[in-house]
Amino acid sequence: MELLGKRALVTGGAGGLGEEIVQSLAEAGARVILHDLPGSGAEAVRDKINARGLRHEVETVLGDLSDLAGLKQAAGAILDSAGPIDILVNNAAINPRDPIETYSLEDFTRVQTINAHAAFVLCQAVVPGMKEIGGGSIVNIGSLTLAGLVADMVPYVCAKGTLLGLTRSLAREVGPAGIRVNLVAPGAIPTELERRVWAGRLDEVNADVLARQALKYRGSARDIAEAVLFLASPRSRFITGHELNVNGGWYMG
Ligand SMILES: NC(=O)c1ccc[n+]([C@@H]2O[C@H](COP(=O)([O-])OP(=O)(O)OC[C@H]3O[C@@H](n4cnc5c(N)ncnc54)[C@H](O)[C@@H]3O)[C@@H](O)[C@H]2O)c1
Repeated sequence: MELLGKRALVTGGAGGLGEEIVQSLAEAGARVILHDLPGSGAEAVRDKINARGLRHEVETVLGDLSDLAGLKQAAGAILDSAGPIDILVNNAAINPRDPIETYSLEDFTRVQTINAHAAFVLCQAVVPGMKEIGGGSIVNIGSLTLAGLVADMVPYVCAKGTLLGLTRSLAREVGPAGIRVNLVAPGAIPTELERRVWAGRLDEVNADVLARQALKYRGSARDIAEAVLFLASPRSRFITGHELNVNGGWYMG
C-alpha cells in the first residue's frame, strides 16, 4: 500500500506490459486511470483488475494518442476531475518492423507522434499539478532496441531515443520541484506482441533471446511492472534521469 491514494495515469494500459503495470500500481493502493484506444479491450482489463476488489477501482479513459490536440484536451479533463496526477507512465507504443526504404514520411511521423510526442504532451499537462503538490514521478517506457541491437525498427528506435532525451532533460528541469523522471527499458518480454510478430518461429526466437541474455530465463510483464513500481514509489526517491535496463543482462550499458 505504499502508493495509497496516489493518482496514476498509464497509457497503453490494455497492452501486454500495460495491464501488469496498471495492476501493480493498483495493488500498491494507487487510483489508476488506464488510457488506451477504443477497441483495445481496456474495459475488459479494467473489469478484470477491479474484480479483485482492490482499494481503489481502476478507471478507463479511451482516446487515440495520434490526435495530440485531442490528447491535450483529454488530459485537461482528467486533471479537472481527478486533480493533480502523482504518477505518469508513458507506456503506449506501436512498433512497425520494416527496412528503412519502406517507410513513408507519414509512417515515420505517426510513430514519433504516438510513441514520443504524446508523452511530451502528457508531461506538459501533468507537471504543473505535480509542482503544486510538491512532487511526482514520471516513468517513460523505453526499449532495449535503443542500444542498436535490432534491425528494421528505425522510426520506433528514434522515438525511444526521444523518450530518453525527454527523461533526462525533464529530470534536470523539474528536479528542484521534487518531480522525478526515469525510463524503464524492457528487454524481450514474451507478451502477446511477441507471439503475434513471431508466430511460427517462437521456439527459434526463444532460444535466440536466451542465448543473448546473461540470465537463462525469459522475463515477464511482472518484471517490468516491478521496475515501474519501484521508480513510481518513494523507494527510489534519490533516483532521477535514469535509464533502468530490465533485460536479463542482454545489454548492460
Ligand atoms: N513487449 C516487449 O518485449 C517490449 C520490449 C521493449 C519495449 N517495450 C515497450 O513496452 C511498452 C508496452 O509494450 P507492449 O509489449 O505491452 O505492447 P502492446 O502492443 O501489447 O501494448 C501497447 C498498447 O498501446 C496502445 N496503443 C497503441 N497505439 C495507440 C494509440 N494511437 N493511442 C492510444 N493507445 C495506443 C495499444 O492499444 C496497446 O494496448 C511499449 O512502449 C514498448 O515499446 C516492450
